[in-house]
This record gives sequence, C-alpha cells and structure tokens, in this order.
Amino acid sequence: MSAVEQPAPVGAIVAAHDLKRVYDLRRGLFGAPALVRAVNGATFSVTAGETLAIVGESGCGKSTLARLLTMIETPSEGRLSIDGIEAGEADRAARRRLRTTVQIVFQNPYASLNPRQKIGSILEEPLVINTALRPAERRAKALEMLRAVGLRPEHYGRYPHMFSGGQRQRIAIARALMLEPKILVLDEPVSALDVSIQAQILNLLTDLQQRFGLTYVFISHDLSVVRLFCDRVMVMYLGRPVEIASVEEVFARPRHPYTQALLSATPVADPERKGQRIRLEGEVPSPFNPPSGCVFHPRCRFADARCRTEVPPMQRFGATETACHGVEEGRVP
Ligand SMILES: Nc1ncnc2c1ncn2[C@@H]1O[C@H](COP(=O)(O)OP(=O)(O)O)[C@@H](O)[C@H]1O
Ligand SMILES: [Mg+2]
Repeated sequence: MSAVEQPAPVGAIVAAHDLKRVYDLRRGLFGAPALVRAVNGATFSVTAGETLAIVGESGCGKSTLARLLTMIETPSEGRLSIDGIEAGEADRAARRRLRTTVQIVFQNPYASLNPRQKIGSILEEPLVINTALRPAERRAKALEMLRAVGLRPEHYGRYPHMFSGGQRQRIAIARALMLEPKILVLDEPVSALDVSIQAQILNLLTDLQQRFGLTYVFISHDLSVVRLFCDRVMVMYLGRPVEIASVEEVFARPRHPYTQALLSATPVADPERKGQRIRLEGEVPSPFNPPSGCVFHPRCRFADARCRTEVPPMQRFGATETACHGVEEGRVP
C-alpha cells in the first residue's frame, strides 16, 4: 500500500478508491481514440446498514458506478473492496461469492423481467445458477420471498405482464434478494413509478432493510426522495464525487457550488433559502473532453484561475467532504 492510499474505513462494507471507468468509442482498429470518462476517480465508502444516496444530473456516471459496484463491469482503474474482499484481486471463487453479496435493482421493471418466464422461475433462476438447492427448496424460498415483498403465493405461476409497475418492481426486488445479498444497489428504483406507488415501494425497501440488515446504495435524481429515504449523500458531477455528507448536513449546509445549485433548483431544499434559485449556466460538458482543473469551473459562479488549472482534491470541512478550491479558500458562501 502506498503512502497516499488509506485502508478501508472501519465499518465500511464498500470502499472505492479512485475508481475509474473509461469507454473507448473509437471506430475500427485505426480510428482515433474516443474515450468517454464515465466514472473518473471516485473515492468513497459505504457503511454497513446505511443508505447512501448517489445524486447528480443525467450522464454524470451514476449507472456506470452501479455497474462497477455490482461487478457487471470491471473498473478501468482504481480499487474496489466489498465486504472485506478486494474485487480486483479476488480469485474466481471469491468473485463468485461477491457477485451474490451485491445485487442490483434497475429503474425499469418492465424491461428487467423476462416476459416469457413465470414469476416462480424468475425468482428461482439465481438459485439454479448459484446454489445446489433442490426444486422443492427453491420453490419454498421463492414463495417466502414473494411474501416478504408483499405478493401472494398464487403470483408464483403468473407472467410479468399480469402485474402493475409497482408489483413488477416488487418482483425485481424479490429476485435481487434471493441469494441473501448484503448490499443492494438501487438504480432509480422508483423513478418510473407513479408517486403513490413510489411511497409503497420505499416503505417496502425500508422494511426489507431492517428485516435483512441490508446496506443500500440508492441512485436517484429526486432529492425529495433522497431526503426522506437516505442517510448520506454523495453528489456526483461529470464522473466524480464533489460532495459527501449526511442528508441533514447536505440539505442544511450544501458546500459545493454544484450541490448548492442542485438543491436550489428543487422545492425540497431548506425553506429559509427559498427564492434564491441559482441558475446553472450552460450544459453539462461532455465526458469525452472534460474541462481542465475543476470540471465544474465553466458553470461555476465562483471559479477563478486556480479552478481552471488545478483539480481540487476531496477535503473535509466540518462534517462534509467536498472537492472545491473556493470552499477551501472561503470564496464560496
Ligand atoms: N457502455 C457505454 N459505452 C459508452 N459510453 C457509455 C456507456 N455507458 C455510459 N456511457 C457514457 O458515460 C456517461 C455516464 O453515463 P451513466 O453512467 O449512464 O450516467 P447516469 O446514470 O448518471 O445518467 C455518459 O456520457 C454516457 O453516455
Ligand atoms: Mg443512470
């Protein structure tokens, strides 16, 4: 371990260090490289039993990070430790075990369930692949999980099209829990649902978290949901975390100018600050060609020469970690 690398914090069930994922979109063997830096240096940890929110505008790398955490994809660089195991160094057996430790629920419950498979078979599939359980045992487990997510035994033999969006998301959650994972990555799990259904699914997730002692990574662009449902927040901008703090702290005292703008654009932010809506200038820059220095500087009201050249490191300010020269120098209110 080199001097700059820190051991995983005590109690961390996930520890990511300078995680990167680059996609090369070059055309053909001799085309010019076209690198998309989807995740561009994420260092953070998740404490066992907590719910960490990941927020940020569309395209900032949230889903890519979700695929790294669930080992659907491998990082281009950096280190990822899950449940005490270094994912990059794990042997086949350990990786296999890790794949059951972390499970994912996607946004769209219509696309994520095979329409030709009955619910029972959808739920039992992970057991067929990963365990030596006998058919009767698999069936018992599937029925038990159906009950846990608020569905009934007769749903076992039905097809996905016979269910509503909310019920389908219950099925997707049940499937994710079949292998008794410790961590669920929830990628916009209620964004496709009606508001009334959203609350039911969030209540279910709260119950399941307590019952099974789960750790959640909750990806969302809805800050009102994050405020109600999550313990800590990581704000991402163009592939990097820019602010990490407790939900209370982020909503009461957002430090990074990007976090301030994000909160001011939503009605759930502190009522005292109502009316001070901060307009973000310009578009999110392309991850093909990220700006120099602080990647937020072209849209930042407080940017100066240092911000245009020097990448700000994550630093602790009170109860918050943020990456901003302006906060460090007291230029940002
Ligand atoms: N498989 C891929 N190939 C190429 N580019 C990708 C791929 N997946 C994501 N990207 C790009 O990476 C960036 C981050 O995408 P994503 O992680 O989906 O963001 P978010 O979930 O925050 O909207 C986007 O610019 C997206 O176009
Ligand atoms: Mg996404």
